[in-house]
Amino acid sequence: MKKILVPGGAGFIGSHTVLALQAAGYEPVVLDNLSNGHRDAVTGATIETGDIRDRHFLDQLFEKYCFEAVIHFAAFIEAGESVRDPMKFYDNNVAGSLALIQAMLRHGTRKIVFSSTAAVYGDSADTMLTEDLPKHPINPYGQTKWAVECMLRDTAAANGLQAIALRYFNAAGADPEGRLGERHDPETHLIPLILQAAAGIRPAISIFGTDYPTPDGTCIRDYIHVTDLADAHVRALGHLFSLTEKTDGGNGFYNAFNLGNGTGFSVRQVVEAAKKVTGIDFTVKEEERRPGDPARLVANAERARQTFGWQPCYPELEIIVAHAWRYMKENQL
Ligand code: UFG
Repeated sequence: MKKILVPGGAGFIGSHTVLALQAAGYEPVVLDNLSNGHRDAVTGATIETGDIRDRHFLDQLFEKYCFEAVIHFAAFIEAGESVRDPMKFYDNNVAGSLALIQAMLRHGTRKIVFSSTAAVYGDSADTMLTEDLPKHPINPYGQTKWAVECMLRDTAAANGLQAIALRYFNAAGADPEGRLGERHDPETHLIPLILQAAAGIRPAISIFGTDYPTPDGTCIRDYIHVTDLADAHVRALGHLFSLTEKTDGGNGFYNAFNLGNGTGFSVRQVVEAAKKVTGIDFTVKEEERRPGDPARLVANAERARQTFGWQPCYPELEIIVAHAWRYMKENQL
């Protein structure tokens, strides 16, 4: 079984990907400092507790396991926090990724799938985002992800690294079998916050901005089921392994892929879907815009479909919300 290092594998998307890797016959080894991840989200896989910025620790891990590839999730993700404390993000997201990639090169592990984000595009005028559009991140979080993508691209060209960056749009939902779900603290994402309002954990959901240039005035996002994201990682990894078979194994490779359904839903539409799924008429408040929110982010994910045959299985918003709701209720969150 191929051993795959999964930094950040105790987090939301990481833990779902660990399940998908196991189902596909890989042996994931999670590395997590548990600053945001949850130890109990990793079941049936080895977890090593440590930090990607710790070079000595990384050397020990690579020697112990001889990894064939890395799927790198370990990063801070909250855009608002990145504006308030950018150095925290540059340190963990950029310096941490640098240390990880250097360790890979030292130990001859050349394949990496990297968690990137639609935030690299910033406030694009284009309505359907394609991978080659200009990158103008509007917050330090997006900037750190773009910096690491550049690091991967340049190292692929110079040192034979084989790298795929996956640019997630709005990850949501939960494992369809109810084994895992979303647990951020503090929670800032729309769907879990709406469901907390439905559950009575918070008094209301606030809509941030009703004067955007969209049909109902609220922001439009492309919500993508976390299990579909997990599947994309397994396919991207398979693509990297197939490259080695096709070439002499010495060639560098870098490409980036959008992961979204290609359908946008407004904040109001998500609220309505949640009311329908839960059957609860919770309170909705309208507030000022949240700083740094682009009006519309919708993916063109054709490249992922064509390159590694990715096809989302759960594109319906109500299914995404229903899976998240079930996880919340079953785990009394
Ligand atoms: N929103 C509200 N009320 C809330 C929370 C959010 O109206 O209480 C709105 C936001 O203003 C935004 C939309 O709901 O318009 C989605 O907000 P999220 O915070 O759920 O997600 P974002 O689109 O801001 O960001 C997410 C991830 C980022 C990633 C980005 C890529 O958090 O890491 O998607 O599209 F970069």
